[in-house]
Amino acid sequence: FICNSVLSFRNITALAPMVRVGTLPMRLLALDYGADVVYCEELIDIKMAQCHRVVNDVLETVDFVAPDDRVMFRTCEREKDRVIFQMVRQRNRSQRDENLKPGWAILEKDVAAIDVNMGCPKEYSTKGGMGAALLSDPDKIEAILKKLVAGVSIPVTCKIRILPTVEETVSLVRRIEKTGVTAVAVHGRLKEERPRHPVHCDYIQAVAQAVSIPVIANGGSLDLVKTNADIEEFRKATGASSVMLARAAMWNASVFSNQGPLPVERVMEEYLKYAIQYDNNAFNTKYCLCQMLRDKVESPLGKQLQAAQTSAEICKAYGMQELFQQTQERLQARRDTLQSSTEP
Ligand code: FNR
Repeated sequence: FICNSVLSFRNITALAPMVRVGTLPMRLLALDYGADVVYCEELIDIKMAQCHRVVNDVLETVDFVAPDDRVMFRTCEREKDRVIFQMVRQRNRSQRDENLKPGWAILEKDVAAIDVNMGCPKEYSTKGGMGAALLSDPDKIEAILKKLVAGVSIPVTCKIRILPTVEETVSLVRRIEKTGVTAVAVHGRLKEERPRHPVHCDYIQAVAQAVSIPVIANGGSLDLVKTNADIEEFRKATGASSVMLARAAMWNASVFSNQGPLPVERVMEEYLKYAIQYDNNAFNTKYCLCQMLRDKVESPLGKQLQAAQTSAEICKAYGMQELFQQTQERLQARRDTLQSSTEP
């Protein structure tokens, strides 16, 4: 039994799972600024089941690599006790999929917990019976979580959206609690609601009062959480144990710091350093930086960034080509050393 004494879900702030945003550079940056726990972007369980676990000695990471050589998930020692792997379950499986080893089996020793996303309203998720489609099928939720809790030695958590009434939401979370999950994150919006709609703190509060596992409040980025001090206000307003931030952190990750907020230019630079160091996918890096630029995306820097196609070009837009070059040389030197040490 792997006992993870470091990870707690009480009184923490978490970087929310975000597709394209929540890769290693953003997670490390959020940890630097003071996030206690960081979720990766959601990944489909079946895809993970097809991955190989590769120790990357050059980058000093552990990579989960798909059959087409794409790195689906990259992690490193520094975040081991803090990173939560979020998966979505694909319902429409072929027999071949069913015969695969479960997607989480290869992850257990590299992440602190596994989270199941039951709240994604996007069509690609709900069509396949994943994400928010599960919210209307509590039997299925129960079955998935029970199986996962029994099948892994690390904590299991789940993330949901609220249901149309407080009563239904509370009743669902009570069922979820009974499956043995360690915590539940509640995004205080209905699956039909868009991110610009106000968050329903009262629903989260009712849930937090009804269960004894930690509840992580989510959905406050737009109007409630703008600064570090607002995090505590949002926690109080929802009566939850903890707070999870998506957009506020994506726009400026220094929201996690009680010394912050730092100017976004500085945050972008720190992000880019990690993106270079960990060879982050260039389009992914560009996407994140564009999100951070927000309304400045049409500025001269924004335009240069949008035109960039490679990591080198992105770095050039930020005047960081020298650092890019040095990092490439350092990594190449490491590659050469490793290669010569393995040659007979
Ligand atoms: C998300 N969200 C999301 N949720 C999830 O469970 N898994 C995911 O992979 C994603 N992906 C994602 C990408 C991006 C770019 C955004 C903005 C959001 C939803 C997110 O975790 C959160 O629930 C909502 O954004 C509400 O929280 P905030 O933004 O108000 O803090």
